[in-house]
Amino acid sequence: MIESALNLEDIVNVDDYPIHDERHPERQALIARCRTDLENKRYCVIPDFVRPAALEFMAAEAMRLQSGAFHNNALRNCYLHRQSDPSLPPEHPRNLQDRSSVRMIAYDQISQSSPLKTFYHADAVRKTVADIIKEGDLFDNEDPYQPANYVCYRQGDESSWHFDADNSFTMTLMIQPAQNGGEFKMSPNTRTNADENYEHVASVLRGERNDTVVSIGREPGALCVFRGCHSLHRVTPVYGDVLRIMSVFVYEFRPGLVGDPEVNATIYGDRVAKR
Ligand SMILES: [Fe+2]
Repeated sequence: MIESALNLEDIVNVDDYPIHDERHPERQALIARCRTDLENKRYCVIPDFVRPAALEFMAAEAMRLQSGAFHNNALRNCYLHRQSDPSLPPEHPRNLQDRSSVRMIAYDQISQSSPLKTFYHADAVRKTVADIIKEGDLFDNEDPYQPANYVCYRQGDESSWHFDADNSFTMTLMIQPAQNGGEFKMSPNTRTNADENYEHVASVLRGERNDTVVSIGREPGALCVFRGCHSLHRVTPVYGDVLRIMSVFVYEFRPGLVGDPEVNATIYGDRVAKR
């Protein structure tokens, strides 16, 4: 049982989004709108989902934990691999490496009483996301590091074009935007399960298909659910002294799931590998 200084009603903007009442017409309208957006655009955004007081607490916590954040700074291709494939030509998307530089604060570093954990573990939040995704029940991830993270970007940090691995959807919360830059961009439906669409992927990576790229508004408190596995996305370089802070959450379709230790070591660093 996780106890928080803030209750769910102090964290989620239940005035606009009565997510705890499944029969409420406003909740039903929210679910319907998000399902349509997810279907048509491959992402949906719920603005002002988290209240400013909770965001302030989260931002302060992330800033306090900065010294323990793992600086994940590496060249990688858009499939999140660091190795190239000599059997493919150098211009193939699998051989195009780009830099990514982010600061990860893992679940185990975050206070048990953090509103971030209260939010993540709340039945009403999990159920709302499950209703939007429409692929059955969702369960908390039980990995020591993965379930809810702060992802921070300092001046010069960025996340290059990539697909998220494996998961059917990705869920993020904007806590504190950058002063400049740090834009969230996406090329929806870049690939499907059946077709890697390498030519199109390569043209997005080369910056030739900006007509397919959308900028997703990231006001503080906005929750975003998107098909990160099928849609190339990136965070543009951050400028200015303000730390860009977002959170990423992992829910699962089966109970009791944990992450792969090797993957965790690449995301969270030596501290995790040594355990
Ligand atoms: Fe991603």
